[in-house]
Amino acid sequence: MIVLGIESSCDETAAAVVKDGKLLSNVITSQIKDHSPYGGVVPEIASRKHIEAVVPAVKQALADAGLQMKDIEGIAVTRGPGLVGSLLIGLSTAKALAYSLGVPLVGVNHLEGHIAAIFLAEKTPMFPFIALVVSGGHTSIYLVKSYQSFALLGQTRDDAAGEAFDKAAKLLNLGYPGGVVIDKLAKSGNPKVFAFPRAMKDSPDFSFSGLKTSLLVMLKKQGRNFSDEELPDVVASYQEAIVDVLIEKTLQAAKVHKIDQVVVCGGVAANSRLREKFSEAANEHSVSLFIPPMILCTDNAAMIAAIGEVLLKSGRRDGLDLNAVSRWSLNTNP
Ligand code: KG4
Ligand code: ZN
Repeated sequence: MIVLGIESSCDETAAAVVKDGKLLSNVITSQIKDHSPYGGVVPEIASRKHIEAVVPAVKQALADAGLQMKDIEGIAVTRGPGLVGSLLIGLSTAKALAYSLGVPLVGVNHLEGHIAAIFLAEKTPMFPFIALVVSGGHTSIYLVKSYQSFALLGQTRDDAAGEAFDKAAKLLNLGYPGGVVIDKLAKSGNPKVFAFPRAMKDSPDFSFSGLKTSLLVMLKKQGRNFSDEELPDVVASYQEAIVDVLIEKTLQAAKVHKIDQVVVCGGVAANSRLREKFSEAANEHSVSLFIPPMILCTDNAAMIAAIGEVLLKSGRRDGLDLNAVSRWSLNTNP
């Protein structure tokens, strides 16, 4: 089945084509330069930019796949969670296309998409597996029993891991989005120089707001920003605290539930230190680790088309009254 996926939940306008579980094209238009002067995503700007970018993205995705509109057999679109104004652009486009082409439509959960990204990778897991979904808005561990069954095992009580990266970068005047900048800068730093807290040691849940506060306290104490010599060590140590907690809690969940396959997905899964350290830790614990290629970790429409194809093939259909939802936990009806 040839499925067009559309994603517009935050600051990426994306369109992709998947056919029988294989990725044919993957177009991602980023709005980073539009939001960076403000240090974060401005919802009003995001909606306007999605309007400009969505049709060209769809056209490009079809062209890259060597297909035409009439070849599309189904449409999958992110329904939530995300910014409602942004989601509505993707949804309206998807509905208009589905109606005019006479093909089925399915609205999918963005987090379900992040997990499904692994099915487009070279090495794919079997059910059941543990999934760490770690992005700008979410940090959760699930026991995934099938395409549609997710048991929540742990989640953040405050900030998401991506937010911890973004907020630190903002405090340190490093720009937006913080994860990428910190990842790069940390490569030349020593992660052992500064001791940042690893919160909630004995809980399956996460907490990252104290980490950000400890950085703020450090900054206030010294009354100035870090020098160019100090910065790499600061961000490397900060990043290490996030990475350590993500790995430890996910492997602990795998152990408790006696599962030997772990999937790591979402924007923060693009972090090079997390990928490297997780792979060493997984080896040590005899766990098979699955992380999508970096381009499928951050927001994209390929993951939406991938899960969309599975849902459409299972008979799921949504009507043209489909609406956007800002909050939507996996395994629940919005
Ligand atoms: O999945 P995503 O693209 O959007 C959401 O669904 O939130 O994730 C975005 C988050 C941002 O917080 C960004 O800073 C973080 O992922 N991120 C990274 C890296 N690339 C993106 N964090 C750490 N290291 C990276 N290389
Ligand atoms: Zn995302």
